[in-house]
Amino acid sequence: MNVAILGFGVVGSGVAEVITQNAEHIKENSNVSLKVTKILDIRDFPDSDFAPLMTKNFDEILLDDSISIVCETMGGVNPAFDFVSKCLMKGKHVVTSNKELVATRGFELLQLARENNVNFLFEASVGGGIPIIRPLSRCLAGNNVNEVAGILNGTSNFILTKMIVDGMSFADALKLAQDKGYAEKDPTADVEGFDALRKICILASLCFGTHVYPDGIYTEGISKITLEDVAFAESYDAVIKLIARAKKLAEDKITVMVTPCLVKNSSMLSGVSDVFNACLVRGDMTGDVLMYGKGAGKLATASAVVGDVIDCAANDKERKFFGWADEKKDFVASYLENETAFYVRGADADKAEIEKAFTSVQYLTRENQPDNEIAFVTPVMKESDFATKLSELKINLITTIRISDY
Ligand code: HSE
Repeated sequence: MNVAILGFGVVGSGVAEVITQNAEHIKENSNVSLKVTKILDIRDFPDSDFAPLMTKNFDEILLDDSISIVCETMGGVNPAFDFVSKCLMKGKHVVTSNKELVATRGFELLQLARENNVNFLFEASVGGGIPIIRPLSRCLAGNNVNEVAGILNGTSNFILTKMIVDGMSFADALKLAQDKGYAEKDPTADVEGFDALRKICILASLCFGTHVYPDGIYTEGISKITLEDVAFAESYDAVIKLIARAKKLAEDKITVMVTPCLVKNSSMLSGVSDVFNACLVRGDMTGDVLMYGKGAGKLATASAVVGDVIDCAANDKERKFFGWADEKKDFVASYLENETAFYVRGADADKAEIEKAFTSVQYLTRENQPDNEIAFVTPVMKESDFATKLSELKINLITTIRISDY
């Protein structure tokens, strides 16, 4: 079966490599023969083994009826949306690794796939090489999922790990992540939480059956985390991780957010380091399930794309039921309805005032702590109550970080 690839970047070139190198193994294991016959990119790759397959003209793929499966690995919404919708309307299956596309236009594309009786699959859009989408939609389908949460951005996890373990600067760690091919073209998406946001929106849409759009979801990244916070976290027997989560508050109400969190060392998520990702699913029948593996990188992500390609090839004439409804008004509640404990760091605050505001707190300490610096952990409370109490407290606030309950 002939396959085309849109975008010959890190993931796209990985897909070409995996399909070509593992063609025989794929044939033996899955009984499908795959062959990459065209690759679209605006750049030239004269030295690549795949140079003879390159084209700059999308129509050469769209109008080629011998191509049944198209892998979109360009990233970004435009022109990916245009290309993907045209391929679906032409009766081609589409597989994508593009989380921005799925998070912002997934509902429309799933509908288009349904109308044209083809598959639109996106296992690689969340968690790189970790199987997450398929296990959630199939193996865990007998559960009511109450919560899904995870470390979903490899770059930020890699940076935090390098800062914590090696004392590396934020800038050096980011540069290393970029050199290793983990980071997005614009790494702001990685370090400010937007990449994790897109992924949790996809997972929330899948788990709760309603499209959750990234717009308006509360998102904080890791760029303000300092080595002082890391040290206070250590004294709390915790590490700092960027956690994306979606939680059911009622049958028709969820909260979704992305923020750094202090994660206790006893948690399954605390040991998820470097570029590794983990996705924790709380099902009413299974309890907690953790999926863990490499969340970014060329071949890990390409492997997930190729898994979907094989699925399309094996089910060429049959569309898989897979999808969710469009967004519902007020389905996503304000993050202020969430309940959590907070770590607070500031200066020049009076302990008696802190205890009056928050009743019982746990003070934290670190080496070389200036006399006027104070750090404490509050009890669990509604985010809105915390915001009110904090605004009334006399403190030179430096930072607040949520405490994870996973
Ligand atoms: N930039 C992303 C990450 C790549 O670091 O997780 C995988 O989506």
